[in-house]
Amino acid sequence: MTTKTKAFETKDALDLYKKIIYTEGKAGRRMDKKQIEEMIDLAIKQLGYSYAPYSHFHVGAALLAENGTYYTGCNIENAAYTPTNCAERTAFFKAVSEGVKEFQAICVVGGRDGVLTGYAAPCGVCRQVMMEFCDPETFQIILAVSKDKYDVFTLRELFPLGFGPADLA
Ligand code: THU
Repeated sequence: MTTKTKAFETKDALDLYKKIIYTEGKAGRRMDKKQIEEMIDLAIKQLGYSYAPYSHFHVGAALLAENGTYYTGCNIENAAYTPTNCAERTAFFKAVSEGVKEFQAICVVGGRDGVLTGYAAPCGVCRQVMMEFCDPETFQIILAVSKDKYDVFTLRELFPLGFGPADLA
């Protein structure tokens, strides 16, 4: 029988590790705390524009381009359901439609009736769109409930083995 070594002896040790790793970004650049808070504010403001009469799940996003510009987005639902666009893709498509295709980070918030109780992680389709335009090792995804409760992940962490443009090169 083999004995597995526990990576962390206590939950506090694990939480501390996660705090350091996620605020610094595991493999990518360090996100400035002030900038993270600014992005959380922007994403939360987007909840007010969310058009979600069917699911009542309101999502807001703030996408930070490499050039420092923010592109915001909200989810936009449709009576035919499938044309629904997620908040993240709204933000990406706004940017790309204006010629901007390099990005640093995105902040996503969401909850039923716009009440934030937990993280609203990007759906698989949105992760695929991120994979198209972002370096998975450095692109930061901020999932937030408030300015005091958030975590930062790289795209690679949320989309391991994702298929992207490099696979077709
Ligand atoms: N939604 C997003 O906006 N982003 C995601 O990544 C997950 C889901 C939206 C789509 C739909 O309007 C609602 O949340 C419920 O799925």
